[in-house]
Amino acid sequence: MDQYAVFGFPIGHSKSPLIHQQFAEKTEQLLNYQAVEVRPEAFDEAIADFFQTNGKGLNCTVPLKELAFEIVDQLTERAQFSGAVNTIKKMNDGSLLGDNTDGVGLLSDLCDNLGLSLEGKRLLVLGAGGAARGILGPLLEANPSILWLANRTVSKAQVMKELFAPIGYIHSSSYEDLAGQQFDVIINATSASLTGELPPLAKGLLAEKGVCYDLAYSQEPTAFVRWGEEQGAALSTDGLGMLVEQAAHAFKLWRGVMPDTSLIRAGLRG
Ligand code: ATR
Repeated sequence: MDQYAVFGFPIGHSKSPLIHQQFAEKTEQLLNYQAVEVRPEAFDEAIADFFQTNGKGLNCTVPLKELAFEIVDQLTERAQFSGAVNTIKKMNDGSLLGDNTDGVGLLSDLCDNLGLSLEGKRLLVLGAGGAARGILGPLLEANPSILWLANRTVSKAQVMKELFAPIGYIHSSSYEDLAGQQFDVIINATSASLTGELPPLAKGLLAEKGVCYDLAYSQEPTAFVRWGEEQGAALSTDGLGMLVEQAAHAFKLWRGVMPDTSLIRAGLRG
């Protein structure tokens, strides 16, 4: 049977095996998908073993996405811009193709599932680390009127601005420099939420009927989702939908069929 897996560390609470087994059932594909704990120092060996023994495709999660970027033979353009790979496909000639489906997964959740259009909207992304880098390309391609990137370490936001200049203009600043601005959509790409922290965000940043989206997800509302609710957001949500959508795009790359994600999203939340 064709083998698929997600490698990461830690990996115990990964929802990916459940998601991909459900995709497989719904699209009547015969495959096996497992979560495997792999430490960064064991990554090279683990990946070689996996693809030598029926491995057809692999997801990589924290902290392996940058290592995966280094190890593959070819990259899709979006993976190249992301500097990270979350999906690897073994091609017919045995070579490994690296892709990044995080950004397109976010766009699918925002636009297809939540019914938002980003065209002409004022977007703010918080954080300029790996998670932000994975989504900036697709966000720029959605034609917002402004894409503003704020980060605690301003120099990192500046680096992103330069990196993405071939795709579009990003305005970069500190959190303090956001004073007086207003945004229709605020996306949290910092890792602060996971530890219950928030960047220092002034009141009034979110426009009326604005939307807040946290790339992180958890059983309880994250600190950023709660912040959005306090600001009167029309919608303040975590990134569970993005998790399912990035998985669906990986599944499509591997199996050539796009699974229906609606029932799975409802099931995971319950
Ligand atoms: P990830 O892959 O999750 O993006 P990362 O590359 O380590 O992880 O980046 C973490 C991001 O969260 C960074 O933008 C970081 O800000 P700095 O670049 O200034 O370090 C941001 N971050 C983490 N904790 C934060 C906090 N308590 N307040 C504000 N930003 C925080």
